[in-house]
Amino acid sequence: MFKVAVLPGDGIGPEVVNEGLKVLNAIAENNTIQFDFDVKDINSERYLRTGKLLTDEDVEDLRKFDTIFLGAIGDDRIPPGVLEKGILLALRFTFDQYINHRPAPLWRPFGRLKRDVEFNIDVFRENTEDFYIGCGGRFKEGAGEMTLDIERELYDLSLDIEASASNTDDYAFEIGIMSRKNIERFAAFVIEQAKMAGERRITVVDKANVLSNIYGLWREVWTEKSKQAGMEVQFMFVDAMSMALVKNPDKFRIIATPNMFGDILTDLLAEVTGGLGLAPGGNINPGGLSMFEPVHGSAPKYKGMNTINPVATILAAKMMLDNLGRRDLGKKVEHAVRLTFDQGIYTQDLGGKAKTNEVGDSVAEAIRGM
Ligand code: IPM
Ligand code: MN
Repeated sequence: MFKVAVLPGDGIGPEVVNEGLKVLNAIAENNTIQFDFDVKDINSERYLRTGKLLTDEDVEDLRKFDTIFLGAIGDDRIPPGVLEKGILLALRFTFDQYINHRPAPLWRPFGRLKRDVEFNIDVFRENTEDFYIGCGGRFKEGAGEMTLDIERELYDLSLDIEASASNTDDYAFEIGIMSRKNIERFAAFVIEQAKMAGERRITVVDKANVLSNIYGLWREVWTEKSKQAGMEVQFMFVDAMSMALVKNPDKFRIIATPNMFGDILTDLLAEVTGGLGLAPGGNINPGGLSMFEPVHGSAPKYKGMNTINPVATILAAKMMLDNLGRRDLGKKVEHAVRLTFDQGIYTQDLGGKAKTNEVGDSVAEAIRGM
């Protein structure tokens, strides 16, 4: 029995999670796996009602689960950053989910490139550091001091910042931080995944030609780790990488990227594969609690319309099955999605007519028929 914490979240989150659960229930019908789903209201509504984001009680509660299945977090009524940092990033950081795995295979016939190129990319995005670390602030009048504290599973870090500018103005800063140990464990994981996939090369993204401290360390560690492991590394600057992913996605197979560039590149790549409606992600802690979610957000304007594509979330459920050690069942889900598409059942974002629930029904039905 797997205990699954279900966080539908905001906007279209509950709708797509519903379809994901429908598919997981169909998977459980043959009795080779059992789930105990427990739905949590860690979302914007609760925040608006109580002012609570991710609380210590939530964290203690979630520790009792085997995995987390998440819809989307985000709400127009709340200023940007509050829910994102207070819930989503807090979950990733607290549970030390230091890898964000975002597969990006071409989903025929939905690929958005004019040229017909076959590709199957796996992006591994570092998920706890970089410019996402939460180390920033503002100085009014150009002067002042502040202490910034960062807490991670690997370390507690405190930074004292003192500012005094020659001209009075508003100043704002955001510091990116990376640590050797974190890059090492991230690189080790990606190298292992590449080896398991039979790949001999990893494309490693950065902007070491400008942000040479943070990505200097990143490159140094990647160079060492890949050498030890006998893995070839191809370094690419993120600007060239964004171009190359549109021009020649077939030249890439395994991509490793720092957190912020990974955020951007995975949206870009999702579009190339067929759209955000098809892109799942796993926030992975190999020795702890992992969390699975679609790459897309809460899309509030589509809320309750039953039109949004649930496939990204269904594929996130597939990744969850893989992660729970049931790749056999993960394969079934993926195959059922394929069969559904082949029957012409898909939502409007892909040029289809099917409703959200019809896609979920069809995937569940295809699983029952296997
Ligand atoms: C994503 C999202 C998040 C991120 C936001 C909502 C914090 O864009 O999962 O890609 O930037 O990681
Ligand atoms: Mn994003």
